[in-house]
Amino acid sequence: MDIRKVGVIGCGLMGSGIAEQAARSGFTVVVREVNEEVLAAGQKRVLGSMQKGLQRNKLTQTEHDDAIRQLSFTTSVADLAYCDMVIEAATENMAIKKKIFAELDGVVSAETILASNTSSLSIADIASATQRPDKVLGIHFFNPVPVMPLIEYVRGFLTSDETMTAARAFGAALGKKTVESKDRPGFIVNRLLIPYLLDAINVLEQGVASREDIDLGVQLGLNHPMGPLTLADFVGLDTLLFIADAMYEEFKDNRYAAPPLLRRMVIAGYWGRKNGKGFYTYG
Ligand code: 3HC
Repeated sequence: MDIRKVGVIGCGLMGSGIAEQAARSGFTVVVREVNEEVLAAGQKRVLGSMQKGLQRNKLTQTEHDDAIRQLSFTTSVADLAYCDMVIEAATENMAIKKKIFAELDGVVSAETILASNTSSLSIADIASATQRPDKVLGIHFFNPVPVMPLIEYVRGFLTSDETMTAARAFGAALGKKTVESKDRPGFIVNRLLIPYLLDAINVLEQGVASREDIDLGVQLGLNHPMGPLTLADFVGLDTLLFIADAMYEEFKDNRYAAPPLLRRMVIAGYWGRKNGKGFYTYG
């Protein structure tokens, strides 16, 4: 099927990046958030990132202006009715995602593909909230979406070949490279990333080294763009905890057990770069 109009549910870190990338690639994009306040914050994030892209010569003024014209913002799910595909990028919580998918299922056409940007939750489980499990899949982006060149596709138990083909064509139109994973928690990338980030927090908590030395050690010793604690802040400590808990729940493997320090930081409101407080403080 031909995808032209894309809905994005959630305009946080990931939703705003997905909306920006889709608009920059010529898709008509409708972004939905739960209330005007978070919608305005998300809209600001999209516009700020596009401005940065303009300043860095990643897009011309015309491309910038065209992309902005492709975007609209709403608080009503009904405004997604005519989308060919909707990508959900809400909180990493199964109950919330199922509620969203059930609502979408009643609003969009029978042909519309419903995708989740989940990092770790089961696509088959999310799809069970709809009457169209063959049209549900995972499309997992990486932060920052306009910069990171990868999309992970996740095929649910009942996802059809036709749905996978249409979604792959969409990813190619965004200019991303793609990989495909079975519907197992963490898919490919987070299956490897999450234990590594949790281990870095354990190393800090056990007093093996300072946060700066852990980060510098990995950055310079392994040539990573960011050390693990900086990356954990960047992903969001709340998101990291959600993913770790989901993976632990499924695998019951201590590799995915959240360190006590992480859990307490999240409870105390240390969510990383998104709210200025994490392993580091951000202005
Ligand atoms: N639009 C287009 N391009 C942009 C842009 C924007 N809004 N913002 C920045 N860029 C470009 C810059 O122009 C630059 O391009 P160049 O290399 O051609 O000059 C490049 O992106 C890097 O930007 P900056 O110079 O501003 O920043 P840094 O060099 O400090 O890099 C970073 C920032 C890209 C975030 C880098 O530190 C990095 O790659 N970090 C690791 C990020 C990562 O691992 N992400 C995945 C997290 S896991 C995830 O998302 C999955 C989830 O499920 C947990």
